[in-house]
Amino acid sequence: HVSDWCYQSQFTCDHQCNVPDKWNHANGDCAGSYQSPINIVTRKTLKDDRLIPFQFDNYQEIFRGTIKNNGHSVQVGVPHLSIISGGGLPNSYKAVQFHLHWGNNGGPGSEHTIDGEQYPMELHIVHMKHHYTDLTTALADPEGVAVLGFFYEISNSANKKYDPIINALRSIKTKNANISMSPISLTQLIPNEQNLTSFYRYKGSLTTPGCTESVIWTLFESPIPLSKDQLRVFSELKFHDGKAMVGTFRPVQPLNGRQVYRSGGAAILASATFLVAAVATALGLSQPN
Ligand SMILES: *[C@@H]1O[C@H](CO)[C@@H](O)[C@H](O)[C@H]1NC(C)=O
Ligand SMILES: *[C@@H]1O[C@H](CO)[C@@H](O)[C@H](O)[C@H]1NC(C)=O
Ligand SMILES: [Zn+2]
Repeated sequence: HVSDWCYQSQFTCDHQCNVPDKWNHANGDCAGSYQSPINIVTRKTLKDDRLIPFQFDNYQEIFRGTIKNNGHSVQVGVPHLSIISGGGLPNSYKAVQFHLHWGNNGGPGSEHTIDGEQYPMELHIVHMKHHYTDLTTALADPEGVAVLGFFYEISNSANKKYDPIINALRSIKTKNANISMSPISLTQLIPNEQNLTSFYRYKGSLTTPGCTESVIWTLFESPIPLSKDQLRVFSELKFHDGKAMVGTFRPVQPLNGRQVYRSGGAAILASATFLVAAVATALGLSQPN
């Protein structure tokens, strides 16, 4: 089918599906100019004082979600009670669902990269403007959707807060399988609020077809810890053909002149170099021109 899209990891001579380079065959929007994900070059980001901390309302609300293998990822529907505002967003947005993108057994797997670094996994909490009732309507609004993106890092000890998700994965290995999870809150899945003041912002798209360019992206600097064993469980999931569900990320897309902004707290990785230069200048050590 022309509408069949797949990740690069799924392509074989026997299974010729539309890999990311050909997603525009599935949906023309995938060839647009404001696509996601992107590589964020930190020294080219612009500090924006409007990117104040987020307000998270009802993020601590405990709910019993259904987790589903949708053939491309695992997705959890979220009751539309958790609201984000602030963070330089033009509106308040309510959470709709979250899903993840990962590599192979804890190898590189995030969609966005920071200065070329690809993290082992990336969490997307998808929100829509407060007054909408479904995502399809929200996607017709150029600022209708706000996605909060979080990176993972490999930790030595297991992150117990992820047990409800990790344990459920074993029951949804095949496409369309779903199960009700033990109760969770969105708060338990993300870093502490005081670690969420450093983030990047740009305008882009969904990272799967239709690739609709209606997304205000936020990528938080502070990663979520997960042990290698926990990350490996994601690689035990299967695509529709029974092959291991790995490499579920779209390659980074051209910026095409877009500006990426950073909040006050977000670090420029080269800042240590600037600091050394500034100290040298202050001490009169720099070469006179
Ligand atoms: C979950 O799976 C059952 C079959 O086991 C199916 O009837 C149901 O529609 C599925 N629910 C979702 C939300 O996909
Ligand atoms: C959270 O922030 C504190 C203080 O800035 C820092 O020491 C700690 O490492 C951060 N934690 C994470 C998980 O980034
Ligand atoms: Zn995603």
